[in-house]
Order: sequence, then C-alpha cells, then structure tokens
Amino acid sequence: MMNIENTEPTIVAFCCHYCAYAAADLAGSSRLQYPPNVRIIRTPCTGRLEVDFFMKAFENGADGVLVAGCEEGSCHFKEGNLLAKRRVNYTRKLLSEAGLEAERLRMVNIGAADAQKFAEHVREMVETVRKLGPARLKKATNQG
Ligand code: FES
Repeated sequence: MMNIENTEPTIVAFCCHYCAYAAADLAGSSRLQYPPNVRIIRTPCTGRLEVDFFMKAFENGADGVLVAGCEEGSCHFKEGNLLAKRRVNYTRKLLSEAGLEAERLRMVNIGAADAQKFAEHVREMVETVRKLGPARLKKATNQG
C-alpha cells in the first residue's frame, strides 16, 4: 500500500475500563457520530500503560494515539491516571526526538457517562492528524 496519504488516519485509543471505555461504548450505542477509524484498546487503568505501548502503537501504523483515563481524582487505582500523564508527556518528548509531532499523542480524562466528550476528543485527534499527515514512525519493513 503506497498511497497512505489518501487513506483515513488511523487512531488508536487506549481507554480505561472504568471510564473512557464505557464512554466509548455509550457513544457507539447512542449512535453518536465519531470517526470510525479508531481502534479502541481497553486497559484496566491508564496507569498500566507503558511508554513502550505508545511507541509500539505508532510503529504499528497509528497516526495518532489517545490515552483516555478517568478524571483526575477519580482513578480506581488512585494515581494511575497521573502516572499515565507523566508517561504520555515523556513519550511526547521521545516522539519529537524521533521527528514526529508531539500532538499526535494526547492524554485526556473522560467520565464514564461522557460519550459526547469521547466523541469530541476523537474528532479533534482525527482533525489534528489530518492536518499533520501520516505519521512517519511506521516500520520501514513490513514484518507484520
Ligand atoms: Fe481509570 Fe485509573 S482506573 S485511569
């Protein structure tokens, strides 16, 4: 596939089981409009996500990555979302060093009932990535 410029951007959204995943589910079931090109990955808490997970998502073809956790103060594992925020910020630096725009990785906080907010964050990410074009961290070789 050579003409990636013509395809829709690929977004990966790591969603906390307790909040963003529920919001994403609700967005789907209430037929809220959000772009379909989002791969949702459920996590028990955003604090479980390592820097490596974010980098791998880009290496595997994501153009943008959303990390969606509970509202600050509401994480079920106390400070998992704060830990995630620090890891996201750190990874943004790594991305810049690798020549990718830091805006491609974003941490957001969403309540379980906030389907609207989830849909908005996805739309915003798609817009950002559309403007930036495809991410260039994709592996040169296609090893699956
Ligand atoms: Fe949701 Fe920690 S339980 S971010």
